[in-house]
Amino acid sequence: MEKRKYCGSLMTSMQNYKDFAEMTESEMLFLSGLIKETKAKKIVEIGVASGTSSLLILDTIKNTEGAHLHSIDYSADYYRDASKRTGFVVEDYSDLKQKWTLHTGAMSCRFLENIGNEIDLCFIDTMHCSPGEFLDYLQVLPFMKKEGIIVLHDIAFHTYDNPAWNTCCILFSAIHGQKILPEYTEHKYIPNIGAIKLSPSAIEEAFDVFNALMLAWLYQINKKDFWELKSYFKKYYPDELVNIFEKAYAFSSKFVEKEIRIQDLYVYSKKLYLTLKYLKLHFLG
Ligand SMILES: C[S@@+](CC[C@H](N)C(=O)[O-])C[C@H]1O[C@@H](n2cnc3c(N)ncnc32)[C@H](O)[C@@H]1O
Repeated sequence: MEKRKYCGSLMTSMQNYKDFAEMTESEMLFLSGLIKETKAKKIVEIGVASGTSSLLILDTIKNTEGAHLHSIDYSADYYRDASKRTGFVVEDYSDLKQKWTLHTGAMSCRFLENIGNEIDLCFIDTMHCSPGEFLDYLQVLPFMKKEGIIVLHDIAFHTYDNPAWNTCCILFSAIHGQKILPEYTEHKYIPNIGAIKLSPSAIEEAFDVFNALMLAWLYQINKKDFWELKSYFKKYYPDELVNIFEKAYAFSSKFVEKEIRIQDLYVYSKKLYLTLKYLKLHFLG
């Protein structure tokens, strides 16, 4: 494991969007510092929301010749406020938008074949519960450059209030490669962002992440997405791994009958957070 300390400052206009930001300043510096250090040019982001992380990445690569950011989000509407479009924060920056392509309305497998291979760096920040980021990683992996970088946000998410939202932490452990963590974190236990420089054989080692799909899912993907993913995985992974995905889907169907959208999960987690806060206050007097 390596530790990194990146200094510097964020673009000043980022302040205007602080109400929409989902990362702390030190996490943003870690992501932008890593992009600069590795000179990443072909960058994919999975999980856009308002677009504050897209803006950060675009500002980081603005002077890098040939650099481009592909941002992917399942939802075309901003998941916290459906009156806004996903990525709306970037709209005001016509100069930065030249290096940006936004893809919305489906899982990343719908877009990755067109985005193409040799991805230098992929930033994943989606559901934080199973099967979320396990599936995101398995979709992008076949298109990653050898020894490319995966950055995972919310690897400490389970340490806040709900231990079951541990997918990012498990994924961070399960991916083979050189782990990179920030030297500084404002979180209580462990840093909430981390990166992995993929092992040259990461694709052959994908079993470890497929196997983690057998852990209880907190939400169910819809049938259409299941079939799309299955045929996508069949192109890039051996049958025995695709079988694990099928079995995990069938197993989870026993427990999670209802399809849940990210918007539902957001409302659910907010309610849960408020309930836990209430209970804590109640019991602690
Ligand atoms: C935590 S937010 C992203 C925050 C953003 N990276 C930032 O820092 O401003 C999660 C986003 O992931 C999206 N999402 C959820 N599941 C997804 C999936 N399978 N593929 C792509 N996007 C997904 C949601 O619609 C939501 O916009």
